[in-house]
Amino acid sequence: MTNTALITGASGGIGAEFARYHASRGGDLVITARRGDALDALKADLEAAHGVTVTTIACDLGAADGAEKVYQATKGTRIDILINNAGFGGHGAFVDRPLLEDLGMIDLNVKALVSLCHKIGNDMVAQGGGKILNVSSSASYMPGPLQATYFATKAYVSNFSAALAEELGDKGVTVTSLEPGYVETDFAKAANLEGTALVKSGADAASVAKYGYDAMLAGKITAIPDWKLAIQLRWVMPLLPMKAKLKFVRKMQEKS
Ligand SMILES: NC(=O)c1ccc[n+]([C@@H]2O[C@H](COP(=O)([O-])OP(=O)(O)OC[C@H]3O[C@@H](n4cnc5c(N)ncnc54)[C@H](OP(=O)(O)O)[C@@H]3O)[C@@H](O)[C@H]2O)c1
Repeated sequence: MTNTALITGASGGIGAEFARYHASRGGDLVITARRGDALDALKADLEAAHGVTVTTIACDLGAADGAEKVYQATKGTRIDILINNAGFGGHGAFVDRPLLEDLGMIDLNVKALVSLCHKIGNDMVAQGGGKILNVSSSASYMPGPLQATYFATKAYVSNFSAALAEELGDKGVTVTSLEPGYVETDFAKAANLEGTALVKSGADAASVAKYGYDAMLAGKITAIPDWKLAIQLRWVMPLLPMKAKLKFVRKMQEKS
């Protein structure tokens, strides 16, 4: 029985912590992101610390052939766990933002994730089982003025993942959607969110990764790593009138 995980966006942040946690449990890894040097450094650390085998694939997963390249590079390796973690956001009013950046966000956050779920999901069905963890966000629970495209990509990820969980459950494949609030990584800087109320104190990436990974092992459909946030998202947010919800989210994302 192998225990190999393919993790996207593993060169830093939550993705690198998924890799560290999986390796600490003795699992082999295939890790991918654009920054090959960061992947190589993580590979060296994990192989030395845990005696596992780590394969790196430096690749732009947002490119049209990105998911296929990653998939082809894993051919011949049985993937037991797929963690679709790579993603990015971007602050600003939709019409003022570069359209290509928002389309690139859809390419990475949605299209690459869907492609890998399809390709590797099929292999998992054929091999009789597997686990998929898709990294969504608390953003999936609401529309996101000043990050309209990002929030919408995460709504897609959560809904898509839940539907797949239902379709694949009787084929031995579980699908979990991880929906954290703000996590302290490079994400906020890359998304130009610094100076907004969203970016105050956040969770640490290692504990969020562990929470999501354990939820995936338990076969949960959704996982929110903070119980207070979970109550707000699951029970309070749906009761708010749409206009109030929009004003609230907009305020959270305005720069001070
Ligand atoms: N941090 C938060 O507050 C937060 C909250 C909720 C959900 N999330 C979600 O958590 C996931 C991980 O984010 P993070 O917080 O760990 O952010 P991060 O530190 O910025 O890490 C993002 C990862 O994605 C990779 N990536 C970005 N663009 C890529 C591309 N075109 N092709 C391949 N890999 C790419 C990056 O590697 P390279 O730059 O080397 O390519 C990096 O490894 C994302 O899906 C994000 O939406 C984050």
